[in-house]
Amino acid sequence: MHDLHDTPSSAPRLTVLTGDRPTGPLHLGHYVGSLKTRLELQETHTQYLLVADTQALTDNAHDPDKVRRNVLEVALDYLAVGIDPGKTTIAVQSALPALAELTLLYLNFVTVARLERNPTIKEEIQARGFGRDIPAGFLCYPVAQAADITGFKAHFVPVGEDQAPLIEQTNEIVRRINRQAGVDVLPEAQALIPTMGRLPGVDGKAKMSKSQNNSIALSSSPDVIREAVKRMYTDPNHLRASDPGTVEGNMVFTYLDVFDDDRTEVERLKAAYRAGGLGDMTLKHRLEDKLQALIAPMRERRERFARDPAHVFSVLREGTQRAKAVTQQTLDEVRAALGTFLFDSVSP
Ligand code: TRP
Repeated sequence: MHDLHDTPSSAPRLTVLTGDRPTGPLHLGHYVGSLKTRLELQETHTQYLLVADTQALTDNAHDPDKVRRNVLEVALDYLAVGIDPGKTTIAVQSALPALAELTLLYLNFVTVARLERNPTIKEEIQARGFGRDIPAGFLCYPVAQAADITGFKAHFVPVGEDQAPLIEQTNEIVRRINRQAGVDVLPEAQALIPTMGRLPGVDGKAKMSKSQNNSIALSSSPDVIREAVKRMYTDPNHLRASDPGTVEGNMVFTYLDVFDDDRTEVERLKAAYRAGGLGDMTLKHRLEDKLQALIAPMRERRERFARDPAHVFSVLREGTQRAKAVTQQTLDEVRAALGTFLFDSVSP
């Protein structure tokens, strides 16, 4: 894999693009899966974050209010974790018409059968219970996501592992466009997936998700964090502190592995838990302290930005304007390279 810290400072910065659907608060799963990487990348790369409200509509067309409300919330979550608008451009997808037009072009370079085979889409269709009534926009959102990624000519996409098939699909489209154009008008993108895989929910289920009610939002109050840790799934057979317990599949240990930097101490605790004599409460207190310490500064920053929504709006407006120019430039290049249209650019 490309070493992110390998690029000499004189070389032009490589580009990073990622996005989030504004459908609810971002949580620890987002932090571990992607936001943490974005914080590092904004120091060394040209980074764009897309609040993907158009994509959110593909399964929320019945609830546009929710989508609109959450645009500002997602922006606040970004600022809260430390995304710096001086280093990272935050843009609103629905205000970038070039992405919609790229989507329309790309739809001709992908088959319905390929979209139906996409593992991410298959899983999501099942989770949403669409049955045979799949909104066409939903089936095609991987094509729109290819437009997001290529519209910014992104080299890297920091995402959770569930998104990997979407990057693959993007690169298939890129190769087809480039072949048709006879020139590499678009770069292929590489997914940056954290080595730990996805963070499970506090209930031990495979995925942390707002809809499963097993997540810890980055905007959580101290009480909410305390409660979430208290009801966290451990070893159901570990009834007394003196009993030997199981570490594997025990969420407190899974989370300590991610959020506790003192590796030696965590290993010591695992051994003690296995041997018997270490209670769940002791461990949960330790984990709670780590999570409170991680989230407290985020909550403070969030509250500070939330007091000035006009400022957050202007961050979004300026970022979107910059993104508009970049994506329009890409669209013009793709149109010209394909050679289909009388006018190379949409502004003849
Ligand atoms: N599909 C992503 C999600 O559900 C959001 C997203 C939209 C995205 N556009 C993107 C991610 C482009 C990476 C790149 O979280």
